[in-house]
Amino acid sequence: MPSRFLKFPDGFVWGAATSAYQIEGAWNEDGKGESIWDRFTHTPGKILDGSTGDVACDHYHLWRKDIALMRELGLKAYRFSISWPRILPAGRGKVNQAGLDFYSRLVDGLLKAGIEPFVTLYHWDLPQSLQDKGGWAERSTAEAFVEYADVVSRKLGDRVKRWITHNEPWATAVMGYQMGGHAPGLNDYPASLKASHHLLLSHGWAVPALRRNSPGAGVGITLILFPLVPGPSKIPVLPVFRKFDGYFNRWFLDPLYGRHYPADVVAEHINAGHIPADGLTFVKPGDLEAIAARTDFLGVNYYSPVMLRNKVPPGSDNEPLLLLYHGPKYEYTDIGSMVYPDGLCHLLSRLHFEYQPGKMYVTENGASYSDGPDGDGRVRDRRRLSYLHNHLAAAHRAIGYGVPLAGYFVWSLMDNFEWSFGYAQRFGITWVDYQTQRRIFKDSALWYKQVMAENSLVAPKKSS
Ligand code: FCB
Repeated sequence: MPSRFLKFPDGFVWGAATSAYQIEGAWNEDGKGESIWDRFTHTPGKILDGSTGDVACDHYHLWRKDIALMRELGLKAYRFSISWPRILPAGRGKVNQAGLDFYSRLVDGLLKAGIEPFVTLYHWDLPQSLQDKGGWAERSTAEAFVEYADVVSRKLGDRVKRWITHNEPWATAVMGYQMGGHAPGLNDYPASLKASHHLLLSHGWAVPALRRNSPGAGVGITLILFPLVPGPSKIPVLPVFRKFDGYFNRWFLDPLYGRHYPADVVAEHINAGHIPADGLTFVKPGDLEAIAARTDFLGVNYYSPVMLRNKVPPGSDNEPLLLLYHGPKYEYTDIGSMVYPDGLCHLLSRLHFEYQPGKMYVTENGASYSDGPDGDGRVRDRRRLSYLHNHLAAAHRAIGYGVPLAGYFVWSLMDNFEWSFGYAQRFGITWVDYQTQRRIFKDSALWYKQVMAENSLVAPKKSS
């Protein structure tokens, strides 16, 4: 008889995640410079509900209360990001001491509460002045990132022992430079390929600086990764899977794990005219060695898989380009992501068998559901609770297959500014009333509190 309880390994890191722009507010206080997200949200028409992160969850002022919430939940770890323009308002050069002091106090507060800080250096809020010079499409931005990583880790490296260089370089390069839905809002395919390279390069260059300034620390990078799942498609899936796996996953994983950029994807880009016939001319001697710097862990963000449509969309040249299958068989969250917990187990197992990172953390996983307080003030977010429950069971299954999964961070500690969707999408396990800045633990938070305390969960009736 399988046990009713799924026990996690001793020392498993239970956490919750946020990012600077999504929660801090105080967009122009205490010497902070303008970021590309300030510029983007202040441009009419870019954000669905017309909102900005100017105030967001006002965490810049309420951080002490937020640490108290985390302590009440019993979080073992908190993943947050640092706002680069709060530290270096012009991107390089003059350091804003008030910005550094803010994060230093935050780190002290966390450690005092027994919560381990996991610091992400880049969660998308590039200083606008660097964007004005071309942003990530320019190699000089990778150089600037190393200076920034050095400044931050010199200040915090005695206390922060887990560093994540980048959050989702795919999103920065593709959503920001190719699809335009994220800052800086460009539709420039060649620039997005350069951006992805310079993001990875800046990661590789920053790794030694972080190790130097933070002795004994674990250093890694977080990728958003998409398992590919056969839908009810009549289309032969293998070549299409290979192709999209190349764009979404291998383009980032292969160079990070010392395998160069995938040749099949390079050839596709040449065919499509995104790069010249002589290939990736922006890759300079030594770059690939730098990108493949040894890391201590891989951060994995997983929300939903890519699944083939059952019909080729009209006008798409027989190419099933957008892959999400919408059909009655699956559930979707309020933001339109398919709920597919097995995908997490497939993904972690594949990473383990194919790339063998020494250690992995799920650095984000969660769901957007709009459930708010009922008349009695309680937030009954049953669907989020079940999403988390089933995904944790899938993570547990992966551990059973030998995957070295060392921790899990729910996205997100609290409702926050969801990029181009503004405040309409709520991913938090804590409800935020944006008028009063009141926070209320949702049912999912109370459930998660118990899971963390017991280091185990009840096996779900149906795990996917
Ligand atoms: C991830 C982002 C995070 C949040 C979640 C919902 O891709 O890293 O900031 O927006 O999606």
